[in-house]
Amino acid sequence: MNAKVSFMYSTLAAAIAGISGSALAADEPIQPIRPVQQINLSQVELGKKLYFEPRLSKSGFISCNSCHNLSMGGTDNLKTSIGHNWTQGPINAPTVLNSSLNVAQFWDGRAADLKAQAGGPIANPGEMAASHTLAVEVLSSIPDYVIEFKQVFDTDQITIDEVTQAIAEFEKTLVTPNSRFDRWLLGDKNALNATELAGYNLFKTSGCVACHNGPGVGGNSFQKMGLVEPYKTDNKAEGVAGLTGKDADRFKFKVPTLRNVALTYPYFHDGAAQTLTDAVDTMGRLQLGKKFTPEENAQIVAFLKTLTGEQPTFLIPILPPSNDKTPPPKPFG
Ligand code: HEC
Ligand code: HEC
Repeated sequence: MNAKVSFMYSTLAAAIAGISGSALAADEPIQPIRPVQQINLSQVELGKKLYFEPRLSKSGFISCNSCHNLSMGGTDNLKTSIGHNWTQGPINAPTVLNSSLNVAQFWDGRAADLKAQAGGPIANPGEMAASHTLAVEVLSSIPDYVIEFKQVFDTDQITIDEVTQAIAEFEKTLVTPNSRFDRWLLGDKNALNATELAGYNLFKTSGCVACHNGPGVGGNSFQKMGLVEPYKTDNKAEGVAGLTGKDADRFKFKVPTLRNVALTYPYFHDGAAQTLTDAVDTMGRLQLGKKFTPEENAQIVAFLKTLTGEQPTFLIPILPPSNDKTPPPKPFG
């Protein structure tokens, strides 16, 4: 808790420092991603299995990794996701990479943290379409899981609380340190070329850093999409207004992280921008009332591409087989 509060303060201070235009690396509005610390390794190993576990879905086919594919920047690279029975998802899937840095989860922030988030998709009829009871029943029918939950949580009873706890602990390991931009921040002045550096300077001087700042280069505040000029979309999502019912919150979304943004296309909550060139042009006009020249746009895009960090690597987890007692999957209907 304390860590989160102090993180928010440091982000705020950094944002203010950035706007005042200081050139000292220590005062940059963006901070390097730190490798994960203080992690429960046995929970991580179990959570990794559950993250790849399609039997948490009704179809026995959809896992967290189906929509947050760790081979593709933690996303599905689709406009909106495909859920159970090929259901068209309502909104673009954000990356799970560095999601532990977010102030809250989901575009509208309706889940406070990763653990609170992880129960959602399992029971969402348009996503994995199982129920928490069914998910627990499936896991409890598999002796190797019963043994592993016992080892990790010291309990004979598998619960959804333990399932989401383990998944969240695994997700905390999905940080991507050591991007070229972070190496530049840490003092390696050759890590960026002149075009990328020009892009970073434009990113600061144009005002992008007012919303995209901190270690996540976003993820730490909710802001209106279409601040200067209204955003036009057929997508039904209302942002924070969907929770509060307040007109002032209409189209307020969690500012997405720009870490690994070169991998997480298409962009925006409706997935409407297919390319970074598009997304940067829209942001300039709608958020800042600024029309970038093609050269300026290309410089900012070059900078954004330096935010790709080291992707998580590990052996694909091998999942224990189902047995005679395991409820069979229902892939159709
Ligand atoms: C069918 C596709 C699909 C599946 C399966 C799925 N997700 Fe998601 N996930 C999404 C979409 C779409 C959103 C955004 C929903 C929203 O904001 O309203 C999302 C949001 C998230 C977020 C919030 C990220 C952020 O920046 O706000 C996290 C974390 C996450 N999912 C983790 C998981 C985990 C863990 C699982 C497995 C238990 C999972 N997801 C299964 C599509 C999926
Ligand atoms: C007033 C706050 C604000 C400012 C200023 C701002 N952004 Fe954004 N940015 C957002 C919000 C909110 C979104 C999500 C909008 C949506 O999905 O509808 C976003 C989304 C993006 C995305 C898409 C990320 C994704 O994964 O979907 C990119 C790229 C981006 N911004 C770059 C920039 C750049 C470059 C600038 C400066 C030219 C900028 N932003 C200025 C708030 C801001």
